[in-house]
Amino acid sequence: MHSPTSFDFFAPCPRGLEAALAAELAEIAARPYPGAAQAVFSPGAAVPGGVHFRGGWTIGMAANLHSRIASRVLLKIAERAYRNEQDIYALAAEQQWEAWFSAKETLRVDLTAIKSPLRSLEFATLRVKDAVCDRLRQVSGARPNVDTVQPDVRVFAFLTANACTLYLDTSGEPLFKRGWRLDKGAAPLRENLAAGILRVAGWTPGTPLYDPMCGSGTFVAEAGQMALGIAPGVERRFGFEKLKQYDVSAWQAMKVEALDAKRAVRAATTDALQIFGSDISGDMLEKARANLARAGLPAIALKQLDARVMTPPTSTPGIVIANPPYGERIEVRGRGPRGEIREREHHDGDGFRRAQPDAPDAEFFQAFGDALKKRFSGWHAFVLTADRKLPGLMRLRESTKTPLFNGALECRLFRFDLVTGSVKPRRPSEPGTDDTRPE
Ligand SMILES: C[S@@+](CC[C@H](N)C(=O)[O-])C[C@H]1O[C@@H](n2cnc3c(N)ncnc32)[C@H](O)[C@@H]1O
Repeated sequence: MHSPTSFDFFAPCPRGLEAALAAELAEIAARPYPGAAQAVFSPGAAVPGGVHFRGGWTIGMAANLHSRIASRVLLKIAERAYRNEQDIYALAAEQQWEAWFSAKETLRVDLTAIKSPLRSLEFATLRVKDAVCDRLRQVSGARPNVDTVQPDVRVFAFLTANACTLYLDTSGEPLFKRGWRLDKGAAPLRENLAAGILRVAGWTPGTPLYDPMCGSGTFVAEAGQMALGIAPGVERRFGFEKLKQYDVSAWQAMKVEALDAKRAVRAATTDALQIFGSDISGDMLEKARANLARAGLPAIALKQLDARVMTPPTSTPGIVIANPPYGERIEVRGRGPRGEIREREHHDGDGFRRAQPDAPDAEFFQAFGDALKKRFSGWHAFVLTADRKLPGLMRLRESTKTPLFNGALECRLFRFDLVTGSVKPRRPSEPGTDDTRPE
């Protein structure tokens, strides 16, 4: 069989992070790898939702192990124009799947489409699955079983208005599943979105970083691992490990190097990272601590604190990063008249107590904005939210806003430059024009 030394890959990522992923992939390709002088790599186009690239197995495996932003790494098998399901079946049936896996492996097929004229995408998915199974039965006498939950092998089909692309997934579980998160907490940020935000924010190790609503600790864990050179995928397995063709010895060397790097991290180093987190919820902090320990960062100190009373954790200014509660998913607590923490609740007439959605949010975000203005002079704050009115609530004007998708939820990453004397007040027509200058 013809065995190429270079392949076409596509790495999907959260929408809005394509440029960040392209830059990250170029850095991953430029690293030295044991046994390989440099990974064969040519960058491809960044398209909405992902980045194309070409390279050998080394870069395919390295992207899985080291990319913090990709959701998966897909290996392109074939691409051709189609008009109907039969064309798709024919394309899938022609491919030498037997070169990659056998009928002993379980299979899952997924299909996504943009502007496809086909009436049933479910039927198209079945045709791809049938084609792969029929092909394997033809060449080996046996069909693979389908397993939608924990398949050994995943095939992805992507349809546009007239082209069908077939991919073999090299990742398995999506790459944002790093293996360190056991307890999710209420609304965790996906790890790859958090890592992408750190890059978009321009954070680099050594700059103080503070997440005052750290929840399960996603920003803190990603930043800590970045600072210490701990590979995001060091604790997990990948889909390519089930394939017949991959560079086993290069992979073992790469993995051993990553494991050694994680083991070499000392608690004392972790402590000196200048990475800080706090949250109002003690339960969330317990989860975050357990997550950080599994991520190899046991000594990062986390404090239980209301974000409204936060103070800078270092005298050197740095970056505040936050993904505040949104909508009614999480209760925003208020401080009572005597300083005690009390839940703000209302009753919906059904006997269930609920977090009050509006007033406490406005009060909280105004107080959060005030804390930034008054105490974080010289810092830059980045806030991810689906609420476009958040700068108004915080009584701050953003200097940039970057559209990003948190799953299907369209969000903005607002940047606020809290430079002394230059915090921009909102215009008179906007809320909160009374006093927006830093003190
Ligand atoms: C959307 S979650 C953040 C999730 C986090 N980025 C993660 O990945 O797990 C919002 C967090 O804000 C916290 N929170 C709510 N009110 C707060 C307050 N007044 N001060 C500090 N944290 C607060 C919640 O406990 C929750 O952990």
